[in-house]
Amino acid sequence: MHASTEEWLRYFRDNRDRPALPVPAPITGLEPALHRALVRALQCLHLGEAGEGRLAVEILRVRDPALDAALRETVVLYVAEEGRHAREVAQLLGALGARTLTGHHSELGFRALRRSAGHRTKMLTLAAAEVVGLAFYEVLASHFPHAPAVAHLGRVIAREETAHLAMQRFYFERVAAGSRAKRRVIHAAFRTIVGAGVATLTFDQRALLRALAVTPRDFALRCAEITRTFTRAA
Ligand SMILES: [Fe+2]
Ligand SMILES: [Fe+2]
Repeated sequence: MHASTEEWLRYFRDNRDRPALPVPAPITGLEPALHRALVRALQCLHLGEAGEGRLAVEILRVRDPALDAALRETVVLYVAEEGRHAREVAQLLGALGARTLTGHHSELGFRALRRSAGHRTKMLTLAAAEVVGLAFYEVLASHFPHAPAVAHLGRVIAREETAHLAMQRFYFERVAAGSRAKRRVIHAAFRTIVGAGVATLTFDQRALLRALAVTPRDFALRCAEITRTFTRAA
């Protein structure tokens, strides 16, 4: 997508100014089971989007030859963009007459893992979360023609998660620094974390997926496709 750290920084600086999603009007008329399942899914997404603040502090002072000043600032803006996603998902929850949650078992598990880990593991865990998040926002984008605010949020955020994953790939190519062995280790870890994320999401959000006639297999196949955009040969 972009070939240098400066280009990535420019992308995130420009994107910081994209118009905020409008506060949606109250969303009524969804079938009650679908409404409930959508609220639950958005509450979990919100927790995932909101939980990254510490990385933005850590990334500025950690020693890492793969990070230059532009890429460090890029990661700070990347984390801020996830914060914007959290606010936009919270707005949508408000339109659905619901609130955000303060903790959920799967998200807490991921957070505990990230806290105990070094910044590269945190980045890789986030990169894997991009895959599952992107596939999920795509589902929102394509399955809510009757709730345009949901579809619009899905489209806008899916586009940004695509860029996030591409930036993560760019970073981890620098970490691997041309070493095929390092790249293999990174990709194997990445696939493992994605696999855990897919299993968790398809279980936790089974009610929504069922209501939308998305099978766990379809969801997993789409995640596998997205995963290959990260692991394909440079
Ligand atoms: Fe996000
Ligand atoms: Fe993201």
